[in-house]
Amino acid sequence: MSKPPMTADVRVDVHLTPEELRAALREDVASGLRAVPKDLPPKWFYDDRGSQLFDEITRLPEYYPTRCERAILVAHALEIAALSNADTLVELGSGTSEKTRLLLDAFARRDQLRRFVPFDVSEATLRAAAEAVAAEYAPVAVHAVVGDFERHLATIPRDGDRLVMFLGGTIGNLAPKARHDFLRDLAAGLGPGDAFLLGTDLVKDVDRLVRAYDDAAGVTAAFNRNVLEVVNRELRADFVPGRFEHVARWDAEQEWIEMRLRSTVDHVVEVRDLGLRAVFSAGEDMRTEISAKFRRERIEEELRDAGLELRHWWTDPAGDFALSLSFPA
Ligand code: AVJ
Repeated sequence: MSKPPMTADVRVDVHLTPEELRAALREDVASGLRAVPKDLPPKWFYDDRGSQLFDEITRLPEYYPTRCERAILVAHALEIAALSNADTLVELGSGTSEKTRLLLDAFARRDQLRRFVPFDVSEATLRAAAEAVAAEYAPVAVHAVVGDFERHLATIPRDGDRLVMFLGGTIGNLAPKARHDFLRDLAAGLGPGDAFLLGTDLVKDVDRLVRAYDDAAGVTAAFNRNVLEVVNRELRADFVPGRFEHVARWDAEQEWIEMRLRSTVDHVVEVRDLGLRAVFSAGEDMRTEISAKFRRERIEEELRDAGLELRHWWTDPAGDFALSLSFPA
């Protein structure tokens, strides 16, 4: 006896091929190693090992954002689903997380979900997540989009009433100008029936902030140094991660955490695929991430500048992290 094949309703649009992703890495590394001070963008942290390390970070006692955001969703997912009135859930970045499921469950319980649109740079991650969600939430259609949220927002399917969500505080990784452009492009793509759910980490006690990015077990340090392994593998570079020290510092003026890799010795790194030699002095810092922290007024203002109206705001009981729900103004 044979069962009919499972015909899950899954579609995957690829707007970013592995070759394009690699070209983007080459460009970022070439310009980042020539810049003064040197920098590498945080998007390159997330190879398999980096994603695994980030997952470990989310379970560290010092790293509160994931737990706080989850608590907000546990308390308010049904309300968010109702207020959004959406039938399509779009998730930017993040891929697989259980936080997505809290929203999917809320939408499903309200019988409100017709389609899920996960958007991520990694096709492999997306395919796995798409198949799993399609099987678990049938007959919900899954329309996955492989792209970079700074370049391919316009490729997100537009039909239906959509709740676009950008969780985890990832918007904090964007520098102010990039954040402004991102919000403007995002808002430009939203119609009258759409809504935007944004997760943002909030300004708080400096010691707690710094410890969240410099944990006692050294997982964040390993996560930070892993970006060097990514460059070594992808661009045939010869970084020695042990020559770099993990640094996390609070920039009080910008209100962001900055992660850096500090060279402990004078040395030269060769990036063979770029024909590039980068000279590092002892004590020289290379910036690898900013993670901006927010206050409500600032988020509201930035959303307003982009043409969005913040109508709902939730935090965890301690006020460490916020979710906001906005609508086209
Ligand atoms: C995944 C971007 C939200 O900025 O807190 C965690 C990444 N970096 N520890 C963050 C991260 C260091 C994280 N985001």
